[in-house]
Amino acid sequence: MITLFSHGKDDKPAPEDDLVTSGTGTAQLSVAAVENDFVAGVYEKLASVYDLAFGPTLQPGRVRALERMAIQPGERVLEVGVGTGINLALYPKSCRMIGIDFSSSMLEKARERVARGGLRQMRLLQMDAADLKFADDSFDIVYAPYLISVVPDPVRVAQEMRRVCRPGGRIIFLNHFLSPSPFVSRVERLISPLTIHVGFKADLDLPAFLAQSALEPISIEKVNVPRIWSLVTCVKD
Ligand SMILES: C[S@@+](CC[C@H](N)C(=O)[O-])C[C@H]1O[C@@H](n2cnc3c(N)ncnc32)[C@H](O)[C@@H]1O
Repeated sequence: MITLFSHGKDDKPAPEDDLVTSGTGTAQLSVAAVENDFVAGVYEKLASVYDLAFGPTLQPGRVRALERMAIQPGERVLEVGVGTGINLALYPKSCRMIGIDFSSSMLEKARERVARGGLRQMRLLQMDAADLKFADDSFDIVYAPYLISVVPDPVRVAQEMRRVCRPGGRIIFLNHFLSPSPFVSRVERLISPLTIHVGFKADLDLPAFLAQSALEPISIEKVNVPRIWSLVTCVKD
């Protein structure tokens, strides 16, 4: 168990855009099933091209997420699935940030970035998002950018994120989710067994995911272009 920091503080929830008011506790989250070994293999291969392939297109969402977070000095932030550390320069230097990832190749890129950017106040640890080695209530903000549709068991990861977040803290997901449009969602379900080969499921069902994770969002904001990614903010009660 890794023991961290010592204090918490009140947060300021972001304004609400569009609330999910219903969900289904039993729906299948995705048609695509993956295992950790498969995902790890994909990201070992992707590490050298990740920033080029997924950098600029997904960057507006990353920037928006950090604006929304409005991190206060001293706040403890956990980024789950830190990857190549593409978000690291966006965090204020005054916060206490830890990034975890299970891919050694992705983490190696993140470590290079930390060294290049003089971001030595940030800690990077190799860890499975489904088995976080932190005590309960360790963080003010637990943030998963472009991670939750990658992992084999999104609900297990959300439960871990919730566990390590302090009461009143924020649990934030930035991700693509299944479209509400019947036509688009059919296409997303069809392609999801293919998209897992480039690192994500295209058909993660947001209302079902939230219901099964017992999380209630305080805001859901559409981000990126096209606006098919969502920034989902939840508060731990
Ligand atoms: C799509 S990348 C996101 C990287 C970064 N957060 C960003 O904003 O681009 C997903 C990352 O999650 C990591 N990952 C996937 N499954 C994981 C797990 N079970 N535990 C920890 N990291 C995981 C992958 O290694 C990869 O680095």
